Amino acid sequence: MKRGEKVVLVVIAAVILSLMGRNLWRVNTDKDVDKGIPFYSSAPAALARDAMDVYHQNNCKNCHSLWTVRNLLESVPAPILDGLGSLHGEDWFYQYFSAENPQSLLPSRLKQEYRMPSYAHLPEKDRRALAQYMASLKVKDWYLEEVRKSEYEKLTGKEYRHE
Ligand code: HEC
Repeated sequence: MKRGEKVVLVVIAAVILSLMGRNLWRVNTDKDVDKGIPFYSSAPAALARDAMDVYHQNNCKNCHSLWTVRNLLESVPAPILDGLGSLHGEDWFYQYFSAENPQSLLPSRLKQEYRMPSYAHLPEKDRRALAQYMASLKVKDWYLEEVRKSEYEKLTGKEYRHE
């Protein structure tokens, strides 16, 4: 190999190594890169299975999205259920699913056919399983903090500071 070729090879190797080094450094220092999915469930597997059976039998996915799954042929503007257990507890869910008129607990401006139906007719154990499972759907703190921050900045135009 000629001397000139060697120099070229060494330069190329140096550039490649420095790029790799920089990427490694970025992955280690940039904490925003990928924090993963912010939603999780703390439910035991058996409960998750029972509750999801009830969920599917009652076509909840025609209106709601959960774990990114919903019926794309329907377009009801119902709330996404991921992380909802960070908002309500089991008792609240149980009352909500048992209410003859769910809108007495959560008012609605939607047309009647799009509103949350009453599930008071379901067996007690199904309503209980659904309530327990919904209460287990949590959202991680960092995500809430980010949502708070972006909402605050959008609404006030000021920089958000964590208390
Ligand atoms: C016909 C569409 C429809 C179906 C089917 C439906 N929902 Fe809903 N649901 C809604 C709407 C819309 C709301 C928001 C309140 C309202 O408008 O009545 C809601 C609200 C909720 C809430 C409260 C959300 C919050 O923000 O606090 C929960 C929990 C819920 N639904 C769970 C379920 C479960 C579990 C099922 C199946 C057993 C189900 N829904 C079936 C439309 C539906």
